Amino acid sequence: MNKPDLCIAKDRKKVAIQYINLDLDIKPVFKGKKYFLRTYGCQMNVHDSEEIRYYLEQLGYSYSDTLEDADIVVLNTCAIRENAKDKVFGYLGRCKHLKKIKKDLIICLCGCLTQQPSEIDEIIKNHQYIDVIIGTHNLSQLPKLITDTYDKKQKIEVFSNSDKVFENVKYSRDSKISAWINIIYGCDKFCTYCIVPFTRGRERSRKMEEILKEVRKLKEQGYMEITLLGQNVNAYGKDLNLGYDFATLLEEVAKIGIPRIRFVTSHPWNFTDKMIDIIAKYDNIMPYIHLPIQSGSDEILKRMNRKYTIEEYKKLFDTIKEKIPNVSITTDIIVGFPNETEEDFQKTLDIVNYCKFDGAFTFIFSPRVGTAAALMEDKVTMVEKEKRLHTLNELVNRYSLDSNKKYLNKEVEVLVTGPSEKGCDKVCGYTDTMKLVNIEGSQNLIGKIIKVKITDVKSFSLDGIALIYQK
Ligand code: 5AD
Ligand code: SF4
Repeated sequence: MNKPDLCIAKDRKKVAIQYINLDLDIKPVFKGKKYFLRTYGCQMNVHDSEEIRYYLEQLGYSYSDTLEDADIVVLNTCAIRENAKDKVFGYLGRCKHLKKIKKDLIICLCGCLTQQPSEIDEIIKNHQYIDVIIGTHNLSQLPKLITDTYDKKQKIEVFSNSDKVFENVKYSRDSKISAWINIIYGCDKFCTYCIVPFTRGRERSRKMEEILKEVRKLKEQGYMEITLLGQNVNAYGKDLNLGYDFATLLEEVAKIGIPRIRFVTSHPWNFTDKMIDIIAKYDNIMPYIHLPIQSGSDEILKRMNRKYTIEEYKKLFDTIKEKIPNVSITTDIIVGFPNETEEDFQKTLDIVNYCKFDGAFTFIFSPRVGTAAALMEDKVTMVEKEKRLHTLNELVNRYSLDSNKKYLNKEVEVLVTGPSEKGCDKVCGYTDTMKLVNIEGSQNLIGKIIKVKITDVKSFSLDGIALIYQK
């Protein structure tokens, strides 16, 4: 059995990044068998699952939409909060039970949970029935590890850090309309509550030419939208020292001419005027920015190691609103950070009242073993934290509804991405500002950018009718 090489991520040394061109020869040795893949967590994981699916399909597996029909189950896990972890362990219970009946079932655990030293020890000790445990840095080894499971020995390949960036990675993408593109891996920010720098390693940018090659290929394949992905996209290029940054990349991507370009996630620190100007300059860069604020209190922001003050956030927010017409801005907010006072919390409500965000993802602080905040004294009770979350949610939902009301009776452009959950005579898609729209219209609108008249608004979506389509 391989021992997982998990040191404390902060001890990791900065070494030169190796760029490796993947050239895998995967044999379809599992032809006729079926896979079940379950993804937890963020867009990064969703995109990693597209790589995992490619490997499973190359191995000969075909898709199964139920666990019970599968010959292999792959769980791509998340570690950001305790409830994400609980869900994975809950589901593993089901897999373990199934394996008692179906002895040849292969169980495979990937993703951020495996990268946590505290969790991997527990997994190895108590979950011997898992066949393959693989971390976030070496997904391309998955086909080999799965192929080797015939010996019935548990395979563990988890590394604490990576000095590699893989190119020529293949994906079996979820959509033929909208595609994810990794531009930078890892995070060096070390916000004190966050496990990501420990699970995803140090910041490693892909070379610009490789990204542009991927964008051009997606354009040729007819993709209407791409989203540039990174834990912190505005750190793009800094580690390369090649004289370009995120703004340069964004401009070069925009010039290729894919109709819609998005990016997530942006840190308020390092969000340059140059970036704002490029977003404003190109019609195909969508006027939507996810800009996590986390708290409205300078004292809490300092203890979170967020590297900006509320005054600085407001200044950035105002500049973005001023320079990018019709921009929508969403955010992330954590309540109940250790020893957050009532006054700190009031300051969070104040900044929400100031920014009137188009939307906000709100969370109760969840201590993650290994992070600095997990060791901080915390006298705030869970009852109090839940009360604060409830108050905050009422406020953010009100602003979300207010921002949606501005769309009533207006005509907007929507990229139709698929059928709507609201009925078989409906499709759904997103405005340039990332508002979800349920549209009365036929399924042949899917994949097109169409004009829609908004007829009703809710807190989290808009309703509309399709007018003539343009593209
Ligand atoms: N507890 C609660 N929320 C967290 N986030 C990250 N780590 C934690 C944690 N330990 C939130 C942040 C981040 C989003 C992706 O998840 O708001 O922006
Ligand atoms: Fe986590 Fe902060 Fe990095 Fe975002 S910027 S991934 S919150 S450490």
